[in-house]
Amino acid sequence: MTSAIITRSLSKQYGDLKALDDFDLDVRQGSIFGLLGPNGAGKTTLIRILTTLMRQSSGEAFVEGLDTRSQGREIRRLIGVVPQENSLDRYLTARENLELHGRLHGMDSRLCRRRVDELLELMGLAARQKDFPDTFSGGMQRRLVVARALLHQPRVLFLDEPTTGLDPQSRRAVWDYVRSIAGDSMTIFLTTHYLEEAEQLCGRIAIMDHGRLIAQGTTQELKEPLTGGTVYEIEFGEDTERYLALLNEMACVRNVAVSGRTIQVGLERWECLSEVVSALNGAPVRRISLRERTLEDVFITLTGAEVRE
Ligand SMILES: Nc1ncnc2c1ncn2[C@@H]1O[C@H](COP(=O)(O)OP(=O)(O)OP(=O)(O)O)[C@@H](O)[C@H]1O
Ligand SMILES: [Mg+2]
Repeated sequence: MTSAIITRSLSKQYGDLKALDDFDLDVRQGSIFGLLGPNGAGKTTLIRILTTLMRQSSGEAFVEGLDTRSQGREIRRLIGVVPQENSLDRYLTARENLELHGRLHGMDSRLCRRRVDELLELMGLAARQKDFPDTFSGGMQRRLVVARALLHQPRVLFLDEPTTGLDPQSRRAVWDYVRSIAGDSMTIFLTTHYLEEAEQLCGRIAIMDHGRLIAQGTTQELKEPLTGGTVYEIEFGEDTERYLALLNEMACVRNVAVSGRTIQVGLERWECLSEVVSALNGAPVRRISLRERTLEDVFITLTGAEVRE
């Protein structure tokens, strides 16, 4: 396996605060890798170090084999970055923002113009290319930043919450494009608070909190520790309390949780369902459904936090 990104005991200290603490990561070339964590976990700090905007306090980090401490210039040529905060030049039009970026990356001017046309079209900004970013909505600005990061066809693309603030349609457009360009020649490293999207998009996912890596793997691997048993949701028309007590006493029921008229029942094995159904014979059951484990369950179990935005 060739790694696009490697970190070893990477740490970053802001005064007394350890924003990154002994962080070890390997991201395979050509993969889409998702980094998840609650607000303040240290995601942006890690991206800033990897994109050489900031220096680590200790430890090592490599991007495409290049050292972030001594080979910043080489790294910056190879990467595209969508920072968490839009960083557009407000005195240049949308098109000029892209063209300037192409020039800074030493792109051939014809190729650059062609790529600019393509990306403006793709991000739905072609009609507004002569306008200034300040006159754009937040979502349009975001799409322009994504276009800029992709212009020079980077080997590693860093996306720090690329779709925050976008409407569902624009989010899908960005992700569809990311998916279509991912592959052998490009590695994508992203952070997001949209767990469902991460689940669909990313081959591997890391979850961090308080500067530390707490889990990584495929979504399947991450969910494994949670999948002992299955969870069903049973909605009652009335008497929820009574059935809660009844279910609680059954041997094959591992745990119960109630929300409104719906009881979540964790079973040892799915076969226990028939036992539960018999026990509920005559009960005013409105609905029984299997509840799939989600990445959100993993996230909440590991960090104790809801995903905060
Ligand atoms: N320049 C700085 N100076 C001091 N502390 C900082 C600085 N930048 C970040 N921090 C602190 O470091 C911690 C990690 O911040 P970071 O921005 O990396 O988190 P994050 O995971 O990107 O969060 P979010 O999801 O909100 O973007 C936080 O506690 C933050 O307050
Ligand atoms: Mg951040």
